[in-house]
Amino acid sequence: MALAGKRILLIVSGGIAAYKALELVRRLRERGASVRCVLTPGGAQFITPLSLAALSEDRVYSDLFSLTDESEMGHIQLSRAADLVVVAPATADILARMAAGLADDLAATVLLATDKPVLVAPAMNVRMWAHPATQDNLELLRRRGVRMVGPNEGAMACNEYGFGRMAEVEEIVAAIAAQLGRAEGPLTGRRALVTSGPTHEPIDPVRYIANRSSGKQGHAIAAALAALGAEVTLVTGPTAEADPPDTRVVRVTTAVEMMAACRAALPADVAVCAAAVADWRVADLASEKIKKGADAAPALRLVENPDILASLGRGPDRPALVIGFAAETEQVVANARAKRARKGCDWILANDVSAHTGTFGGDANRVHLIRADGEEAWPALSKAEVGQRLAAAIAAALGGGTDGDA
Ligand code: CTP
Repeated sequence: MALAGKRILLIVSGGIAAYKALELVRRLRERGASVRCVLTPGGAQFITPLSLAALSEDRVYSDLFSLTDESEMGHIQLSRAADLVVVAPATADILARMAAGLADDLAATVLLATDKPVLVAPAMNVRMWAHPATQDNLELLRRRGVRMVGPNEGAMACNEYGFGRMAEVEEIVAAIAAQLGRAEGPLTGRRALVTSGPTHEPIDPVRYIANRSSGKQGHAIAAALAALGAEVTLVTGPTAEADPPDTRVVRVTTAVEMMAACRAALPADVAVCAAAVADWRVADLASEKIKKGADAAPALRLVENPDILASLGRGPDRPALVIGFAAETEQVVANARAKRARKGCDWILANDVSAHTGTFGGDANRVHLIRADGEEAWPALSKAEVGQRLAAAIAAALGGGTDGDA
């Protein structure tokens, strides 16, 4: 009964995924939450107020200008009486109206009037999801503190494939539980940015350059920071790792996208760059699949990618504490020391990624923590333990008033 006594205001907007909102109401109530529903006119095209009312055992609100509703439970009261506002499904339209601050129906008015945390579960066609208008709106909403769960990649009702499927009901319940049960700890009130995973740099529509990073270490660091109460944005390249609980996850593919997502996540108190960012990308991206031919194998011309760590370490919104990794295969500590200085970061975690160590993709890691004032050799630890130890060190440094060169 992780959600016992919690009050959730669920806004159901008009998408095919609205049918999953019915299941969501049931699952939330099973966990002890009470759910009050707002159904948009679009949502009512997909499910009926009657089914929502039956499952929530409450009346359903739809009309901004209903005299009865306003006298019994006005739009301000609807949000006041909730611990969390959830929009599921959140269509491209309602996200756009939220971003623009419109108040043209009951749902939009509640969202504009609320001072409660808001969680959205986007659901839309893959092209609508990918459209810059939608992505810009999401970025704006994220910066305002709106949290997001999904969307997932998969087959869609419109016979297309891609990102845009609403997160599964269990994922939404987990995101709600994480949101309402945010850990309290020494990093409460602190914002953290973590990068993780590899980047994929396309060569043509079907091929890319990648590396062996699994994302395990970066994800473990994000989880450990969140467990100490930090508000964590995890910017990750393609990985098979599950989203760490209670973090905001931004998925990217290329180094250039990772850089943009990191800049958008600032300001932050601490940045930990654990991603294995590709150093180069292909200069002349082929728009069609490169074919074998009579000619010799194609030569790839590469250009250097932006250095995200160096840009965070030297940029105008520099986090108080900037931490990088140094993946080395020889002279691990000496190379890492030089890297710390070169990239303008406060701490570097140096690890030996030679093939025999099994670090890339494995579950264990052996690191040296290199600071301006000294070094610590950590024993072989699991990646989860490295994350916890690092999070504790970050909490100590930030708590002690780090001056940017701890
Ligand atoms: N890094 C980054 N952006 C890049 C390259 C690296 O943010 N374009 C970050 C990594 O996340 C890591 C640190 O920089 O925290 C060092 O990465 P590493 O691969 O060890 O160093 P490189 O800068 O690539 O240097 P080299 O390959 O010459 O060792």
